[in-house]
Amino acid sequence: MEKAERPIGIFDSGIGGLTVANAVLKALPNEDILYFGDTAHMPYGEKSPDIIIRYSTVITHFLLDKGVKLIIIACNSASSVAYKTVKNLANKRGVTVVNVILPVVDFILHEKYKRVGVIGTNATINSQVFPNKIKQKNSKLQIQTLATPLLAPMIESGFVNGEISKVIIENYLSDEALDDIESLVLACTHYPLIKNEIGNFYKENKRNVDILATNEIVAAYVKNILTREELLNTNQEEKERHFFVSDYTDSFEKTTHLFYKSKVNLQQSNIFE
Ligand code: DGL
Repeated sequence: MEKAERPIGIFDSGIGGLTVANAVLKALPNEDILYFGDTAHMPYGEKSPDIIIRYSTVITHFLLDKGVKLIIIACNSASSVAYKTVKNLANKRGVTVVNVILPVVDFILHEKYKRVGVIGTNATINSQVFPNKIKQKNSKLQIQTLATPLLAPMIESGFVNGEISKVIIENYLSDEALDDIESLVLACTHYPLIKNEIGNFYKENKRNVDILATNEIVAAYVKNILTREELLNTNQEEKERHFFVSDYTDSFEKTTHLFYKSKVNLQQSNIFE
């Protein structure tokens, strides 16, 4: 098979990366994707860098062995700590790796913000990757970070658009670490699923804050890379979407069907044994 017709490999700890996969397929409907959700080890965000690197390594080998043409680390926690490892493994096999942080850093640097808030898991926030990358290019831009560790498990368990999520979101967003921000980066791929609820919080509090969900930014970035590498899939046949999980969960199945109306092939695969 020609390289351009090979699938894009995408992985996350669970359903979060589906927000990225969905945005990629909207921007690039001819592409084939192969998704791995490591639901057995979710949440990544509360694990040590060593463990996240170990899981990401196994998944990368799996995707490379399936013949993907590009890998998207659709998880901020893995992007924060495992990018170098994944990139080295994939580059050796001629495969480019995109993480979900650098495209967003680029995007922020081109906007006119003075104070940007970033929320994400403990792994992402503790890695300091956002302030570090941004400060290298613009030392004046103020980056205000807050770890919001309950959000990803809350979303993964289906607690969205309800009383519980409202209280948890309000609690986090009222933290003084996020005072006076002009924009808020949702630095976890699960968070686009609560973007409206986050927006409602700011509306109710009459605050004007741009909410940056990173999935669309990443999709545009992937489109540029595939165009530059001349790897866009021009085959317009309807594709079957392949999803693999390390543990079969209801929420994964529900979310997959919510996003993808076309043919979905969901399989449990224990690649860690
Ligand atoms: N979706 C992952 C991220 O973007 C986080 C979820 C988790 O903690 O596993 O960081």
